[in-house]
Amino acid sequence: MIAFAVLAALPFVAAHPKVNWYQPRDSPVHELFRRADVDITAANFTAGYPPLYMSPNATNTPQAWIDKLNSITLPSANPVAVQTGTANPKYDVANGTDGSGPDICSFTSGCHTDTDLFHGPDNTFVLTFDDGPSDVSQDLYDFLKQNNINGNATHFMIGTNIVGDPATAKSAFTNGGHMAVHTWSHPYMTTRTNEQVVGELGWTMQIIADVTGGHIPAFWRPPYGDVDNRVRAIAKEVFGLTTVLWNHDTNDWAIGAGGNFTIESVEATMDTWFVGPRSPGILALEHEINNNSLIVFKHEYPGFAANNWTIQSVADAFGMDWYQNAVANGAIASTMSVGDIQTAMFTNQSQTATAGATGASGSAAGNSTASGSGSAGASATAATTKAGSAMGIAAPVAAVVGAAVLAVAF
Ligand SMILES: *[C@@H]1O[C@H](CO)[C@@H](O)[C@H](O)[C@H]1NC(C)=O
Ligand SMILES: *[C@@H]1O[C@H](CO)[C@@H](O)[C@H](O)[C@H]1NC(C)=O
Ligand SMILES: *[C@@H]1O[C@H](CO)[C@@H](O)[C@H](O)[C@H]1NC(C)=O
Ligand SMILES: *[C@@H]1O[C@H](CO)[C@@H](O)[C@H](O)[C@H]1NC(C)=O
Ligand SMILES: *[C@@H]1O[C@H](CO)[C@@H](O)[C@H](O)[C@H]1NC(C)=O
Ligand SMILES: *[C@@H]1O[C@H](CO)[C@@H](O)[C@H](O)[C@H]1NC(C)=O
Ligand SMILES: *[C@@H]1O[C@H](CO)[C@@H](O)[C@H](O)[C@H]1NC(C)=O
Ligand SMILES: *[C@@H]1O[C@H](CO)[C@@H](O)[C@H](O)[C@H]1NC(C)=O
Ligand SMILES: *[C@@H]1O[C@H](CO)[C@@H](O)[C@H](O)[C@H]1NC(C)=O
Ligand SMILES: [Zn+2]
Repeated sequence: MIAFAVLAALPFVAAHPKVNWYQPRDSPVHELFRRADVDITAANFTAGYPPLYMSPNATNTPQAWIDKLNSITLPSANPVAVQTGTANPKYDVANGTDGSGPDICSFTSGCHTDTDLFHGPDNTFVLTFDDGPSDVSQDLYDFLKQNNINGNATHFMIGTNIVGDPATAKSAFTNGGHMAVHTWSHPYMTTRTNEQVVGELGWTMQIIADVTGGHIPAFWRPPYGDVDNRVRAIAKEVFGLTTVLWNHDTNDWAIGAGGNFTIESVEATMDTWFVGPRSPGILALEHEINNNSLIVFKHEYPGFAANNWTIQSVADAFGMDWYQNAVANGAIASTMSVGDIQTAMFTNQSQTATAGATGASGSAAGNSTASGSGSAGASATAATTKAGSAMGIAAPVAAVVGAAVLAVAF
């Protein structure tokens, strides 16, 4: 809780400004997420969330999410996968189908779709950190700030970890970072039921919104890269989430984990990246889980900077809004419906907001013209095959005490 002590000294945290959401009644965001004023320092903070380290299920998932799930059409040829031990999930244990074909398009089996973010744009190093918040996260955020790239990284966070340390999660946001979803309990998502997929994504979106003044995430990354057409469809059509994969795996998570990866070997690999091909660019898999991943990033970052890579968050690299209801940090969570945000208004607010702005003050100027149409459904079909890559495996690392008890009136 060192990070918490540091944060508590800052005025904007000490004041605990009330956060107001301004979602119109007919906005898809309003329908799916509670408007909540959340005090992350409250002793009963955990009480609003489902149990940790496991997939939320229908008994602790808001009915609005289940209703939305029931309103969409899922790919018929994509059953729930089955995992035996720690082997990669399979779609038919008897015949061992690995889902690499276009009907299922499992990234674990090397398939991705044209709706997935996979390659970085030319000359761009898309900077991402998975599995936070952890006990090295604040150190990372300080380093990013010292190097003027605090607004140039996407943090794919684990909901269970946020419950364990909401102050550090909030710190990533107030430091200027881009917040995104890495599920509630870090499972192989293709092995989860439809309702569990909904719970894993929705609750992580909810808690990120709760610690960021109502910013609804727009991106998620599947743990282990384990995604298929069924999970993609739920992410996009229930929650409007874009799936983010990677084309370069640092394997930083595996340092000291019993294999052959060392700090030196991972750094040697990354040394070849910043002097390597610039088209396509690099969308990297990196972590904020422990000192090893932190040491590697601190050592490698100067190489990318010196070689003139444009270092950007996922949203900026692809010219997309940071959140479903705000173009970036410092912007008020919109009065507008998803997809109907007045960019100019938020750009102006971003410029006038301080780096530590919570986005919680001021009055929203725009009027809702909610279309209520929600996000366009994506039926991921086009499939391409990527070069084989080892999937990152990293367990949730939260130091969480106690389990949450569900108490949600939605
Ligand atoms: C936490 O406690 C406050 C004050 O007693 C109460 O208003 C709030 O509903 C509680 N939150 C939860 C999630 O139980
Ligand atoms: C749902 O999760 C709860 C824990 O919150 C668990 O007790 C219950 O058995 C689960 N139900 C099913 C059907 O898995
Ligand atoms: C193998 O399993 C897949 C998925 O269930 C199914 O589509 C396919 O027909 C099966 N193939 C054979 C040869 O049984
Ligand atoms: C580690 O390297 C040794 C020697 O090259 C090799 O035999 C072994 O399979 C490697 N282990 C892993 C987990 O890659
Ligand atoms: C990380 O390493 C630094 C320097 O060796 C040390 O001071 C710090 O305590 C370590 N942090 C953790 C969380 O292990
Ligand atoms: C990077 O850009 C600077 C300034 O434009 C230039 O001096 C330098 O040579 C460039 N370095 C590389 C590796 O392209
Ligand atoms: C950080 O991101 C901003 C916005 O995309 C960009 O203008 C800037 O060049 C980035 N910084 C670096 C060091 O690439
Ligand atoms: C943008 O912000 C500046 C400084 O607060 C203000 O003077 C200006 O009127 C704003 N412009 C718009 C279009 O809101
Ligand atoms: C919002 O709509 C109301 C009523 O239509 C109008 O009076 C007001 O000027 C509008 N505000 C803005 C900022 O457009
Ligand atoms: Zn992960």
